[in-house]
Amino acid sequence: MKRELVKTADGSTTIYLPEWNEHYHSSHGALQEAQHVFIKHGLNPKTEDYLTIFEMGFGTGLNALLTYFASEKRHQYVHYIGLEAYPPAEAEIKGMNYTSFSNDPEAVEIFNKLHRADWNTACEISEHFVLEKIGKQIQELELEKGSIDLCYYDAFGPRVQPELWTPEIFAKIYDWLSPDGVLVTYCAKGQMKRDLKSVGFEVLSLPGPPGKREMTKAIKSLRRPH
Ligand SMILES: C[S@@+](CC[C@H](N)C(=O)[O-])C[C@H]1O[C@@H](n2cnc3c(N)ncnc32)[C@H](O)[C@@H]1O
Repeated sequence: MKRELVKTADGSTTIYLPEWNEHYHSSHGALQEAQHVFIKHGLNPKTEDYLTIFEMGFGTGLNALLTYFASEKRHQYVHYIGLEAYPPAEAEIKGMNYTSFSNDPEAVEIFNKLHRADWNTACEISEHFVLEKIGKQIQELELEKGSIDLCYYDAFGPRVQPELWTPEIFAKIYDWLSPDGVLVTYCAKGQMKRDLKSVGFEVLSLPGPPGKREMTKAIKSLRRPH
């Protein structure tokens, strides 16, 4: 499939798939979207000292990069599981400009470490951050029940990959999440929210990043009385 490197409205880069008319990130701003959906509404409300984060669709590594620096500031230890069935080519990764938006002198080194880390094994990126990239399709993935605290659900949209937005997949993630576990996604489709509810999640619609009205946060909330 043809792939193009393009700039989004906030100046940050992404990959565009013309045949699907689909971007890896919001064309209104890749960085702004990642910061808003996954960091502000995913990571920031999580106050645990040790967190296991599962990302569906590791792709360019943008969410992992932002999580690395945000968790470092918050003194959190992170085990980051990045699932990716079709990793971008090295030239595409080199074409991403995310580190140029960071004031941190280590940004380039960390971005490179995230991408050079071996697949299918846990790799120490730093004292506070372990990355485990898994090269598989989510449909084939099995994780231990209750083993993740936070899920970044960053698959391509249901218009192009409806098979990744099903009650079956959401039920698997529900099982993988710990009792206070949370899933966040940029998607705000009504059917997706109904499917999340049908497998047990409490579903919240939150204001979306620039250019998008809403995003979704789904809470396992097993400890709360219903
Ligand atoms: C929206 S893009 C991810 C964006 C990524 N989080 C980033 O910041 O670059 C969706 C990703 O899911 C991957 N993907 C597609 N189908 C998959 C599947 N069945 N299982 C796992 N990953 C898949 C794609 O290769 C792509 O990298």
